[in-house]
Amino acid sequence: MELCHRPQYHFLPVANWMNDPNGLIQWEGVYHLFYQYNPTGAGFGSMHWGHASSRDLVHWRHLPIALAPTPEGPDKDGAWSGCAINNEGVPTIVYTGVRPQVQCLATSDDELIVWTKDPGNPVIAGPPAGLDATGFRDPCVWKEGGLWYMVLGSGARDVGGMILLYRSDDLHQWDHLGPLLEGRIDETGHNWECPNYLTLDGRRLLIFSPEPFRQAHYYVGDQRDLRFLPKIHGLLDHGGLYYAPQAFVDEAGRRICFGWLLEGRTPEAMAAAGWAGVQSLPRELSLGPDGGLLQRPVPEVETLRGTHHPVAGGVWTGKRKLDIVGNALEIDLGIAPQGAAEVGLELLATPDGEERTTILYDVERGVLVMDTRGASLADGFLGRLSEAPLALETGLLRLRVFIDRSVIEVFANDQICITGRVYPTRVDATNLVLVSNGGAVVLHSGDIWTMASIWSSRD
Ligand code: FRU
Repeated sequence: MELCHRPQYHFLPVANWMNDPNGLIQWEGVYHLFYQYNPTGAGFGSMHWGHASSRDLVHWRHLPIALAPTPEGPDKDGAWSGCAINNEGVPTIVYTGVRPQVQCLATSDDELIVWTKDPGNPVIAGPPAGLDATGFRDPCVWKEGGLWYMVLGSGARDVGGMILLYRSDDLHQWDHLGPLLEGRIDETGHNWECPNYLTLDGRRLLIFSPEPFRQAHYYVGDQRDLRFLPKIHGLLDHGGLYYAPQAFVDEAGRRICFGWLLEGRTPEAMAAAGWAGVQSLPRELSLGPDGGLLQRPVPEVETLRGTHHPVAGGVWTGKRKLDIVGNALEIDLGIAPQGAAEVGLELLATPDGEERTTILYDVERGVLVMDTRGASLADGFLGRLSEAPLALETGLLRLRVFIDRSVIEVFANDQICITGRVYPTRVDATNLVLVSNGGAVVLHSGDIWTMASIWSSRD
C-alpha cells in the first residue's frame, strides 16, 4: 500500500505514465487537457493522447483516449506532442507522428471526444533539406493575419537547438520560412522540444524545453520580419522536475500554462506505484514591470481551500512549530527578514526531523533554496537541492507553497517557481515549522488552508 503519495489536487490519469500536456484549448466554455500517455504501464512507451475536460481548470473529468498510434500509419510508433486549434469551427489537433518524426492532423466534432486522422497525413514529411536535424517535433500552431503559422522544436547537429517556422493557408500545405531562433549547443543544448510562441502584453513569449536539460526556458522579446529577437531569459521553474510546458489563451484572454512534473524516484518505484507523472497547477502568465515573466496559480485553485488556519504574525528567531499538520495544504506567507540569514519553513517534517523538506530564502545571496534531500528515507529516493535567484525589491518575500502529498509547488513573489517531488515514508511526516536562522524575521501575514481533492462525486 502506497503511503499517500498520489497527489489529490494536481491532475493525473487514473493509472500509468503521463508526460507532456498537449492540445490545451477552451472549447465552448469547456477546458480540454490532452496529455502524452502510455496506457500500458508506468514507464515511457507507446505514446497516446490521453484526454480530460474541466469547467474550471481545477476539477477534471477523465475522457476516452483521443489519439492512438495507427499500425502502418505515420504515427505507428507514437502520437507525440502537439496542439489543438479552432479551424473555422472544426476542432483540430496538430501533432507529431513517429518514426520518423512527421507532422499530422486530426479533427473532431464539437464534443472533442472522437478524433479522425487526416487521410493526407503527414502534412509535413520531414525536416527542411540541408538541415541535419536532431529532432523535428511538437507543433505549436496559431493564426495571424489570416494565415496559419507553426513553430517546431528542432536542432542542428553539433550546433544547437532551434525553432523552425512554417506558414500555411489551409493547414495541409506548409512552407518553411527558416529558423525563428537558433541556440548554441554549449548554452541551451542540442535539441529544443515543445516550443510555445505567443503574444503577451504586446511582446512575444517563446517557451521551449532543451535537451539534454530537464528545464523549461523562456525568452521575452520581439519579432522582426520572421526572426525572434530575445531580450529577457529565464526558467519557468527551478526545481529540475518541470518540463515541456504548454501555454494557451483561454476565452477570457488569459495565458495559462501547465507543465509536466516528473517523478523524483526510480523506475522500479514508479512501476510499483502504478502511475508516473503529474501536471502542475494551471499558472497564469503575465509580464512584470521589468518585462520578466510572472506566474501565479489561476484564482480557481482557491476554490479548493477548506479549513483556514491563520498564523499569528510577529517577530521571531529560530524555529516555530505550527499547530497545523497535513500533506494537502496551501501556505501563504508574507515575510520580511530583519537580520536573519535564512528564512522560510520546514514541511512534511517528522517531529524528530528525520524526514523533512526545507524551503529557505538565503538573504545574503538573494537565493531561494528548496532542499528535498532529507525528504524521504525510502531506498532509491532522488532528493535535490534547487536554487533560484530572487531579489527582494520591497524587502518582502511572499511565499505561496502548495503541498499535495508528493508534489511541492512554490511560487515566490510571483517571480520564480520551484517544484519538488518527495515521498516521505513516515505517517507523521506532516509537520510545519517556520524557520529564521541567524537573526530575526517579521511575519506580516500567514494563512494556511487545507486543500480539497479535485476528484469529487462530480467525476
Ligand atoms: C518532451 C517530449 C516531446 C515529445 C514527447 C514524447 O517531453 O520528448 O518532445 O513529443 O515528449 O512523449
